[in-house]
Amino acid sequence: MLKKLLSLKDQVVIDLKNAITVNEVGNIKALYLGKKSPLQELMAKMKDLSIEEKKEIGMATNEFKRFVEDAVIKRLSEINELEIQNKLNSEEIDVTLPGRKFRSGKLHPLTKIARQVEEIFIGMGYKVEEGPEIEQDLYNFEMLNLPKGHPAREMQDSFYIDNNTLLRTHTSPVQVRTLLKAKGEPVKIICPGKVYRRDNDDATHSHQFMQIEGLVVDKNITMADLKGTLELLCKRIFGENLKIRLRPSFFPFTEPSVEVDVTCFKCGGNGCGLCKQSGWIEVLGAGMVHPNVLEMAGYDSKVYQGFAFGLGIERFAMLKYEIDDIRHFYTNDPRFLKQF
Ligand code: PHE
Repeated sequence: MLKKLLSLKDQVVIDLKNAITVNEVGNIKALYLGKKSPLQELMAKMKDLSIEEKKEIGMATNEFKRFVEDAVIKRLSEINELEIQNKLNSEEIDVTLPGRKFRSGKLHPLTKIARQVEEIFIGMGYKVEEGPEIEQDLYNFEMLNLPKGHPAREMQDSFYIDNNTLLRTHTSPVQVRTLLKAKGEPVKIICPGKVYRRDNDDATHSHQFMQIEGLVVDKNITMADLKGTLELLCKRIFGENLKIRLRPSFFPFTEPSVEVDVTCFKCGGNGCGLCKQSGWIEVLGAGMVHPNVLEMAGYDSKVYQGFAFGLGIERFAMLKYEIDDIRHFYTNDPRFLKQF
């Protein structure tokens, strides 16, 4: 019997070689070492043998067991290796295949301009403020030195909700709100936001558009500060080589008031379609905060001065990207939006 057992070794090797799955290997192991195997049969008979024989057969059966176990482990690792190889072959990646197109969204051109302007002013220590779009007449007009019945209200036709409530016509009411909140302390803010005017929409007019307001109030603020600040803003947005000029203008809440022009960044000032042959492009309105506005907000106008400006985000975007119709910003045609 022992001889027969040892002669099985060759068969074990052959069987394992033919086994190609983990399961099959398990079955073979059971066949040669399991309960009904010749090995177990032989061991069951051992109790009837002499000590000498027990010793001899015990050693032989142990050796056989070890032989089978080693062979099983070896085969399992071969199968494992094979599986990995198969997987690698079947999952091969063709790196020459064209990839799937990923259509990502982009920032709206108005958002882009707003963020650029915000970044410039944050870099100079300004805070970004916000205010409500449904505003009180008090903040939109009265405390900006535009009492009820003031003719300059005609400049900004408005959507009224009731006698004292309207959709804000500019971001300037945030000046008032910020000053009231600051309670006499210095202020340095910008405020981007939507504004509304009763206007007939065409290529250059929209009943809804966006502005960025700027306000600085402190001691010893002069018009030179205003000019330097706006020059830096315009250069960063439209190009470092341009010049700016301030033209006298009128806003009830600033005195003096100015319109700010820049040399045409397309033709360099020689005259072209963009600047309507004048060499200059009007970009925003500004001025020194009117003493009445400071006083109404609780600031001593003998001690505090300030400057303010208001720019149209659409106007900036239209100039910078040469967009010919303000309505493009709101119709959301992907063919338009894709270009930015
Ligand atoms: N609020 C003004 C407008 O909408 C712009 C402006 C703001 C002018 C601040 C001067 C100072 O026309």
